[in-house]
Amino acid sequence: MKRILRVGCIGLGSRGRGLMKKLIQMQPSKVVGLFDLKQPCIDQALEDCKALGETRVKVYPSAQAMFDDKNVDAVVIATSWAAHIPLATAAMKAGKAVGLEVGPAMSIEDLFTLVDVCEKTNGRLMFLENACFGRDELLAINLIKEGVLGEIVHAVGGYQHEVADLVYKEFKNMNTENAGNERILNRINRNMEPYPTHGIGPVAKALGINRGNRFISLNSVSSKAVGLKAYIERTDGKEAAYDFPRLAQGDVITTMLKCARGETVVLTWNTVLPAPASRLLKFHGTNGMINLEKGSIYVNGVNEKGKWANKDDYKDKYKHPAFKWFDRNKYQEKLGLKPGSHADMDFITLFAFVDCTLKEYDYPIDVYDAATWMAISVLAEQSLALGSAPVFFPDFTNGKWMRRGELKIDERWDCGV
Ligand SMILES: NC(=O)c1ccc[n+]([C@@H]2O[C@H](COP(=O)([O-])OP(=O)(O)OC[C@H]3O[C@@H](n4cnc5c(N)ncnc54)[C@H](O)[C@@H]3O)[C@@H](O)[C@H]2O)c1
Repeated sequence: MKRILRVGCIGLGSRGRGLMKKLIQMQPSKVVGLFDLKQPCIDQALEDCKALGETRVKVYPSAQAMFDDKNVDAVVIATSWAAHIPLATAAMKAGKAVGLEVGPAMSIEDLFTLVDVCEKTNGRLMFLENACFGRDELLAINLIKEGVLGEIVHAVGGYQHEVADLVYKEFKNMNTENAGNERILNRINRNMEPYPTHGIGPVAKALGINRGNRFISLNSVSSKAVGLKAYIERTDGKEAAYDFPRLAQGDVITTMLKCARGETVVLTWNTVLPAPASRLLKFHGTNGMINLEKGSIYVNGVNEKGKWANKDDYKDKYKHPAFKWFDRNKYQEKLGLKPGSHADMDFITLFAFVDCTLKEYDYPIDVYDAATWMAISVLAEQSLALGSAPVFFPDFTNGKWMRRGELKIDERWDCGV
């Protein structure tokens, strides 16, 4: 077994550099290579490497040159959305393990290609959906695993994160060399569920999706699109708001999914209307409910009838092995991770990728999960184009979901039930 994973980082925007810095700080990984289409991003990444004492990093002239280098074991892809799948498939064809950042898909065909390449090359791909390693999410997963909430019947998730400022900045930079990660381009041209994976990841893991269960259909509704104009009017005045283009993308997208085992899921996306950030997670089972947005739990026979309790009453007894390990090793303090940020779950996700690659464990979030969760973006787009009609959910496992066994994995990295 290799002791150190040599990683190449592709896509060195704010997210990619954040991941790169964590990979440098982690003992079992070493950042050996960098690539981005933009020179200023490479320069900034090199500065960050230097500040962390990593001075022997190679800059490649192309992503393919990095994939062709036998001194690179794995790549982490954090580019803008449309490049994710072409880069991931090229990396797997070259025999590299892939850690892939989250985002929407461009087409269902692309997702089948991703799965096909992974299967045919015996490839290794972990989807870096960090919300699956959130402290609260893993508490809920452990409570479900231990049967505290009974059998899960309904789940709610989503992505509520007010980023009107970022989207407007992207719009202003659209035709410059600072053009960014396609959020605005997609908003102008597509009405879809642009960021489904933070919400659906923990829900899919709790419902055994792709291991004994699957999504069978979905339909979406879209609100009108007025939030960005309102934001621009507040910040830059009426005239700027008037000049802003009409968006295809609605402000709030609500998606309903139905599972083969009978559970239902509601997913909500909202990233311009003002609200505190939340992944809106709720699980409702035959013995109770957890509502992570409220921080509340209701367990039949334990709570006073009809009264919520604080979910923190359960946080020590049901702490997930990943956080037992994280807290025992005092990583928050050791690595100077900002409390209250999502640095803890980002660290655990990346550590899981590195450890599972080195030890050849199954990945906790594999290519089938990646394809299924990203597909929601395009399926919602189809449903919306058809006036919110239900659309059939493709089975990326091609029937394997009915007989896939347990994960071979360290319990710390198992984010499912
Ligand atoms: N998991 C999370 O919590 C989280 C948080 C933020 C962003 N993200 C995801 O991370 C990714 C990057 O986000 P960001 O905010 O850093 O975006 P960004 O636009 O700041 O950076 C993207 C970078 O990728 C580069 N790039 C684009 N296409 C490329 C290609 N073909 N080859 C090499 N480089 C290429 C761009 O030049 C840019 O530097 C996105 O997919 C985003 O959805 C995830």
